[in-house]
Amino acid sequence: MLLKDQVAIVTGGGSGIGQSIAEAMAVEGAHVSVWDVNEAQARLAAEAIRGRGGAASHLTVDVSAAGPVHTAVEHVLAGHGRIDILVNNAGVCRVAPIAAITESDWDFVLAVNLKGTFLCSQAVMEVMKRRRRGKIINMGSVAGKVGGIAVGAHYSASKAAVMCFTKSLARELAPYGVNVNAIAPGVIATGMTQSITGGDWEKYLSTIPLGRVGSVQDVAQVALFLSSERAGYLTGEIIDVNGGQLMD
Ligand SMILES: NC(=O)c1ccc[n+]([C@@H]2O[C@H](COP(=O)([O-])OP(=O)(O)OC[C@H]3O[C@@H](n4cnc5c(N)ncnc54)[C@H](O)[C@@H]3O)[C@@H](O)[C@H]2O)c1
Repeated sequence: MLLKDQVAIVTGGGSGIGQSIAEAMAVEGAHVSVWDVNEAQARLAAEAIRGRGGAASHLTVDVSAAGPVHTAVEHVLAGHGRIDILVNNAGVCRVAPIAAITESDWDFVLAVNLKGTFLCSQAVMEVMKRRRRGKIINMGSVAGKVGGIAVGAHYSASKAAVMCFTKSLARELAPYGVNVNAIAPGVIATGMTQSITGGDWEKYLSTIPLGRVGSVQDVAQVALFLSSERAGYLTGEIIDVNGGQLMD
């Protein structure tokens, strides 16, 4: 098992990519703390893992608020005494031309995607530094590299910032043996993309050399690799998981 007895937090773990990452980590022996702002989804995701013999619990956490994030980290530490892996996956997407983005929508998207990544990382980094081990995996996006195509500029900007934050954090934590990397997914079939495309994936296929949209497992397997000792010499890296849609 790749992650035997390790303690992992997966934010936004109640659905989509985060749920798949949580499941994959549990299969590899981790105890997964599933965090989500949606209590029911977090609970169901943790129950599903336990139903298959894995170890998981859930917490209702809004990653954009410092107080709840710190309380949740304390809760995990009280239960397990350690945090080996943090996956900053929670995210929201909005579609709008720049002229139509409201101030509150801008603040909301940046608060969840960027500030949430910052707050959760900050909350776990001291314990990882003290133990001189840890893996942090952030969720970027192809949109954060090329600008919004199907998505709003606030979303793209937040993901570009997440990927740059990844490099800053990687530099700060490298002396402590903590690896920080990001994944930049392309078009992955989840509730988020379903709501953007209405399920019409066809129009994307001509832009994807591998000829299909990605699955949540495609992303989860890369997250698993990054969270394992197999990726011990990787840090500050942004890994594209996009079927060849962008090769940079
Ligand atoms: N699906 C794609 O094609 C794609 C592509 C690139 C990047 N991403 C990124 O991958 C991540 C997961 O996306 P997904 O497609 O699985 O979306 P999703 O909507 O299925 O899942 C996102 C999860 O995050 C949770 N969440 C939202 N706001 C939160 C908050 N404030 N605090 C805690 N949890 C919160 C939601 O409740 C949901 O369970 C996101 O960061 C997204 O931007 C997705």
